[in-house]
Amino acid sequence: MKDKDIQESEISLLLETVYEKYGYDFRQYSQAHIRRRIMNRIVMSGLEDVSQMQSKVLNDEIFASELLQDLSITVTEMFRDSSFYKSLRENVIPILKTYPFIKIWHAGCATGEEAYSMAIIMQEEGLYDRTTIYATDFNQHALNKAKEGIFSNKKIKEYTMNYQLSGGKESLSAYYTSNYGNVIMNQSLKKNIVWANHNLVTDSVFAEVHLILCRNVLIYFEKDLQNKVQKLFYNSLINGGILCLGSKEGLRFTDFYEQYNEADKKQKIFKKKYQLARGLE
Ligand SMILES: C[S@@+](CC[C@H](N)C(=O)[O-])C[C@H]1O[C@@H](n2cnc3c(N)ncnc32)[C@H](O)[C@@H]1O
Repeated sequence: MKDKDIQESEISLLLETVYEKYGYDFRQYSQAHIRRRIMNRIVMSGLEDVSQMQSKVLNDEIFASELLQDLSITVTEMFRDSSFYKSLRENVIPILKTYPFIKIWHAGCATGEEAYSMAIIMQEEGLYDRTTIYATDFNQHALNKAKEGIFSNKKIKEYTMNYQLSGGKESLSAYYTSNYGNVIMNQSLKKNIVWANHNLVTDSVFAEVHLILCRNVLIYFEKDLQNKVQKLFYNSLINGGILCLGSKEGLRFTDFYEQYNEADKKQKIFKKKYQLARGLE
């Protein structure tokens, strides 16, 4: 069975079922991504086609949960794209310093490496005590791992390199302890991180924040869905708040492009324009 053998209507039906039965809405995710992942699961599970998968999703909760895991890609790194973090330190931190308290939202935080990277930067900048980091994802397995803050030693070399290139001020090893092939992130980094299950497609605004990072998430969403999520971000940001997207993402083809200035075009960092108070509009 090949990728292209799967009919669009079969995928639609399957995604409707997942939504109706489990409340996870993948109906407006990029077709190419969904198709690849479904195909992969069919092969891995020895199924013949999508209709077999359809009945398994309906009757087998463990299988359904595996499929949900497949549809959410949780690949991440600490200080992923070091040049982005360098720009964040240079262009965004000075703005954050002007606030008496700082709220940051990592939307789609996966296993937490991004939130720990931010906690490290805020500690180094002397801002952590007045910062709350909301780190959210709809994948509970990934969130559980994030909360633990235990990562494989094998990744640390790469993370250390990223950290140094991003303008890190210490040695990354100052922020974890090693333990049997793993590293455990310091408790002091966790203290102001609030981990929460939040679905960008079906849940709403939960806080007013100064900075949103949603990197390498919207790339899997179709245009209409990107717009919907951008509305959520726009409504969650304070005037002058900052939005950071992934290197392959942008605002240009969304309804919100005019509502932001480009703080760093290359690094996909945007600053929300000041909204006139209601009544003056
Ligand atoms: C590739 S990871 C990106 C992780 C991190 N932001 C980074 O750039 O390294 C994408 C994450 O988005 C999450 N995600 C996908 N759809 C979501 C949704 N509707 N609501 C919340 N999180 C979602 C996935 O579960 C996954 O953990």
